[in-house]
Amino acid sequence: MSDVTTEEHAGQPGGTEPLPLASFDDPHLQPLARHPKRAEAVTGIFLLIGLLGFAAYGATYWVGGQPQVEGIALGVGLFAFGFGLSAWGKYLLPQGPFVEKRHALRSTDGERAAMAAAVVERGGMVVKRRSFLGGVLGLGGAVMGVVLAFPLLRSLGPVPAKTFEVTNWKKGSRLVDNLGRPVHAADLEVGGALTVFPEGYTSEQDMAVDQTILIRVAGPDTNVVTEASRATWGPDGYLAFSKVCTHAGCPVGLYQHQTQQLLCPCHQSLFDVGQGRPATNVFGPAPRPLPQLPLYVDEEGYLRSQAGYDQPIGPGFWERTTT
Ligand code: FES
Repeated sequence: MSDVTTEEHAGQPGGTEPLPLASFDDPHLQPLARHPKRAEAVTGIFLLIGLLGFAAYGATYWVGGQPQVEGIALGVGLFAFGFGLSAWGKYLLPQGPFVEKRHALRSTDGERAAMAAAVVERGGMVVKRRSFLGGVLGLGGAVMGVVLAFPLLRSLGPVPAKTFEVTNWKKGSRLVDNLGRPVHAADLEVGGALTVFPEGYTSEQDMAVDQTILIRVAGPDTNVVTEASRATWGPDGYLAFSKVCTHAGCPVGLYQHQTQQLLCPCHQSLFDVGQGRPATNVFGPAPRPLPQLPLYVDEEGYLRSQAGYDQPIGPGFWERTTT
């Protein structure tokens, strides 16, 4: 380590000698610091490795599914980039401690000229020759900043778009069970319940959104009216409601025929069904009734939907997405 000091300049009022620049031949310097080109090469290589590590981490994270590779790439990136920065500070920047005696604030004209000459003289080495390192450092920092945002962006999951606002139920959809078997009006006893889906949609995502609970609250030839505007929605004693709880999206799977209530097992929300009660939420945190699917029985006796749901299914959040 070299001590670099300034001396008061006798003869110049209030002036000091310009700050002497450290010599690369200073025997106190570390070996690498005495060879700036070598130090630059080492620094540049490590910064580049760091940059590539960050890029590899970002690419692996974006594809997903390989946490070990992500960890290795990020570790290599951070280590190499950190090492590069340390090497830059240790071998390429002036080493202290520096001591400067108090002097007049304004430099003399001679000092200013000397400083300008020093910048011109050393600038080529200090600034120009290190522009490559500066570029790698800036690019590496930018890549690191971008890839560090990946976990946040990826953790948000896929954009839901209209997925939760629109189901696959539409006019004429035939009700099928989880094995794809059509549901006939004679299939359920009074008090029975069955999870149904629109025929033809079997993917996991479709089934998660479309899942509907079909319950039979009365016998044949009974039109169950949950409210005046839904006079034809419950043919032959059947009612159908979205199974996705309006609280947090759990499947509402339990039907108690004695009380004519649907129960969500997650947080015990209760929904009253039956005459005059369109799955009204009567207990628990669910903020609104379960959307009802309008049904009809076709000529062959199979249950079909008159139309899709007339409102978004699922948690109350979606209520705020529609007017
Ligand atoms: S998810 Fe149904 S009550 Fe909470």
